[in-house]
Amino acid sequence: MLYLYLAVLVLLILAAYTSISAAPWLPTRKVDVNKLLDDAKLRPGNLFVELGCGDGRVVKAAAKRGYRAVGYELNPVLFFIAWVNNFGINNAKIKFINLWAVDLSKVDVVMAFMTPRTLPRLDSKLRSELKSNAIFISYIFAIQGRKPIKKGKSWFIYQYSAKPKSIDSA
Ligand SMILES: C[S@@+](CC[C@H](N)C(=O)[O-])C[C@H]1O[C@@H](n2cnc3c(N)ncnc32)[C@H](O)[C@@H]1O
Repeated sequence: MLYLYLAVLVLLILAAYTSISAAPWLPTRKVDVNKLLDDAKLRPGNLFVELGCGDGRVVKAAAKRGYRAVGYELNPVLFFIAWVNNFGINNAKIKFINLWAVDLSKVDVVMAFMTPRTLPRLDSKLRSELKSNAIFISYIFAIQGRKPIKKGKSWFIYQYSAKPKSIDSA
């Protein structure tokens, strides 16, 4: 019985942590998923990543289009649901990893549905890690002070350029 209480406590702590650390779970509207991916203009073989993938619906849709798709989720219940939703899809992966620890240097398109409070921190991470011409799709909320290259129905698309090399590393 003690183990059950401990397991429930760990689940509650992780769910609370994800709400505070980046965003609570709110699903991407089903009607938006494919339109958003159309706007991502992915090419075959591109890598699509969703930070905080919730139930994995966007990852699944991206993978079904033939892209390599990875979702990161730290809420154990949502991770499990996303994993089940994407089970058997070879080019879809769901990982139980804190999104702040993910290396984004090889990603072509990043998507996230984060709170306005979290977006500035995420923007700094994207600026320092994304390769040239990679794009970020922010669902629902815009990044304050940054101009999107496109505004979709409920999303904003930002382009990132390579981090300038310092003179020392040249
Ligand atoms: C607004 S929801 C996005 C839901 C997803 N787009 C969907 O359609 O199901 C944000 C997600 O980010 C997850 N999250 C929050 N903080 C996180 C963190 N530090 N690492 C990984 N995932 C996190 C939450 O658990 C939640 O599922």
